Amino acid sequence: MDKRKILIQLDSDPQASVFDRVVAIDAGADEIFSYAGVKSEQVQGLIHGAIFTRGPKHLKSTAIFIGGSDVGAGEKLMAEALKHMIPKFGLRVSIMLDANGANTTAAAGVRAAARHINLSEAKALVLGGTGPVGQRVARLLARAGAHVRVGSRQASRAQAVCQEIAGRMAGASLQAVGTASSEELAAALEGRTLVITAGAAGAVLLPTNARAACSSLQVAIDLNAVPPLGIEDVGVMDSAVVQAGVTCYGAIGVGDTKMKVHKAAVALLFESNDKVLDAEEIYQLAQQF
Ligand SMILES: NC(=O)c1ccc[n+]([C@@H]2O[C@H](COP(=O)([O-])OP(=O)(O)OC[C@H]3O[C@@H](n4cnc5c(N)ncnc54)[C@H](OP(=O)(O)O)[C@@H]3O)[C@@H](O)[C@H]2O)c1
Repeated sequence: MDKRKILIQLDSDPQASVFDRVVAIDAGADEIFSYAGVKSEQVQGLIHGAIFTRGPKHLKSTAIFIGGSDVGAGEKLMAEALKHMIPKFGLRVSIMLDANGANTTAAAGVRAAARHINLSEAKALVLGGTGPVGQRVARLLARAGAHVRVGSRQASRAQAVCQEIAGRMAGASLQAVGTASSEELAAALEGRTLVITAGAAGAVLLPTNARAACSSLQVAIDLNAVPPLGIEDVGVMDSAVVQAGVTCYGAIGVGDTKMKVHKAAVALLFESNDKVLDAEEIYQLAQQF
């Protein structure tokens, strides 16, 4: 008989996320063990507790979820956790990274775009492309074969993101662009068929006049749900709303897919003990929605 499904939540924040706990229950976990304020040096003991208890054939019923608002800290916890699994003896458990919702949000945003545009032919611009969500959006678009401009108020920051993505995949088509002034933004938009804004909460990255001047634009997706929104005049609830020939999504319009992807990812953790779910694997799951 299968054991009860235990999700071990490792959260770098002082208080573990209630959101992630609720979703975990809705996704089918029977028990959530929540650890807050987790530091890298504490991970070994936590992983040993997970892998040395149930025998290998039952380890698919134990899994790890890495959360917290600091995505960089989450990435470090994930790397540390993987270091302490012992796959050659079958002593491992499945693991997922979704610190600050970055992977599920990016996957849902790119999935929304793929419903309307062939990503391998898309000419994309990711505004706010240097944040954790924007970096993942750019990475997933590049992986799908799009030509991706990564936007930042400082082109050098965008350049660092392009280099990081290029280091992960051969042949990625990337270009760093500055977007600090309206002239730079207009140049960044030139010829683009897809714009995804992943700017900080409450920051307008794409004003109406700049969007209207981009005649090539087909799809515009905003991931910021905090007013003022990232794309001016795209409603937060919009989901495939066509405005002047452009298919638009707001953050809550994308949110339904994000929630489905998050639940599907947690459920998948319990199918075997060898899943490692980061941006690409989570985007793969989004294909069904
Ligand atoms: N729906 C969901 O479940 C969900 C989950 C996670 C995140 N989100 C949303 O997704 C968006 C991206 O999240 P994130 O954590 O990656 O964002 P972030 O790190 O806070 O910001 C992303 C980028 O926005 C740019 N930026 C910051 N302040 C700005 C300003 N005043 N004006 C223009 N640009 C500014 C910065 O880029 P430069 O300095 O390089 O220009 C920054 O790297 C946020 O709006 C967040 O609320 C939604």
